[in-house]
Amino acid sequence: MNLRSVGIIGTGKYVPERVLTNEDLEKMVDTSDEWIVTRTGIKERRIAAEHEATSDLAYHAAQEALKAAGITAEQLDLIVVTTVTPDMTFPSTACLLQERLGAKRAAAFDLSAACSGFIYGLANASNFIAMGTYQYALVVGAECLSRITDYTDRNTCILFGDGAGAAVLGPVAEGRGFQSFELGADGSGKELLKLEGGGSRHPASHQTVDDKLHYLYMNGREVFKFAVRVMGNAADEALKKAGKMKEDIDLLIPHQANTRIIHAAIERLNLPEEKCVINLPKYANTSAASIPLALAEAVEEGRVKEGDTLLLVGFGGGLTWSASVIQW
Ligand SMILES: CC(C)(COP(=O)(O)OP(=O)(O)OC[C@H]1O[C@@H](n2cnc3c(N)ncnc32)[C@H](O)[C@@H]1OP(=O)(O)O)[C@@H](O)C(=O)NCCC(=O)NCCS
Repeated sequence: MNLRSVGIIGTGKYVPERVLTNEDLEKMVDTSDEWIVTRTGIKERRIAAEHEATSDLAYHAAQEALKAAGITAEQLDLIVVTTVTPDMTFPSTACLLQERLGAKRAAAFDLSAACSGFIYGLANASNFIAMGTYQYALVVGAECLSRITDYTDRNTCILFGDGAGAAVLGPVAEGRGFQSFELGADGSGKELLKLEGGGSRHPASHQTVDDKLHYLYMNGREVFKFAVRVMGNAADEALKKAGKMKEDIDLLIPHQANTRIIHAAIERLNLPEEKCVINLPKYANTSAASIPLALAEAVEEGRVKEGDTLLLVGFGGGLTWSASVIQW
């Protein structure tokens, strides 16, 4: 079977207006701007308005991506939303988005792979197009992490923000587009990063709320070690599968969780810092939204040129990791 070349033909992003700075957090928990900046690189993050939910953020990013791709919502065959903060358990956020966009022909589902989700979504959707099953797909990473963050816990509340990034996928010139995917999971790390409340094991109850199980839990130190190791390995594997060398990379777009983790990846790949997109100081960690948000911003700023080799790499809860090489 002849597979078609598939690539990203349009990107978009959306962040809520409200800014929560480190100084704001100093008034909420025992922390300091200095601690947050030196340990994480984060300066501020965006917080969704009360009336906004994940599908609203996704909608704005998707509209921008459709416009950039030059197609209408009705031309979409598939919508994949990757998120750990869906509007509700079901229907999926993808179905809510499908209706709002008026993407009447599109199949729609959510994909859960935490911060690795966007690249998992790209791998998934691109296969449908490569096979010729579909022509156009929309992949959105969108999160309202502020809704699952405990703003009395200084270990986690400084790290996360809200936002959305989107990409329209379609057929591209032969040899262009996605060159490789490297996806992985290690469920033995399930306790390191989790939200237990409200699922079938711990259905929502007064007790789960009292125990704060509706908030994200993280073992930061262990996740840090895992992230440094896995970012490098996933990047190496994706490059190898694509037949590329480290020197071929024009732009690295890593998951935005901590500048120290990003710098470890830059060092391992032997890259100058200007070849890496870092918007973490403005938005903090937006989980599944972080990579598409960084990609859309890089495109907007003219940092992505035709023919460039991009390396996307992410890691997150599960534990999971993901990487992809793209010839733009
Ligand atoms: C969370 C993280 C920033 C903490 O940095 P760290 O250098 O590992 O810090 P430690 O966990 O060693 O904590 C050091 C101390 O700072 C304290 N501390 C934690 N949060 C703090 C805050 N916001 N302000 C001030 N002090 C804080 C801790 O209580 C600890 O104090 P103790 O030694 O008295 O117990 C870091 O581990 C990290 O980024 N981990 C990965 C997180 C991540 O990427 N998550 C998303 C995955 S998708």
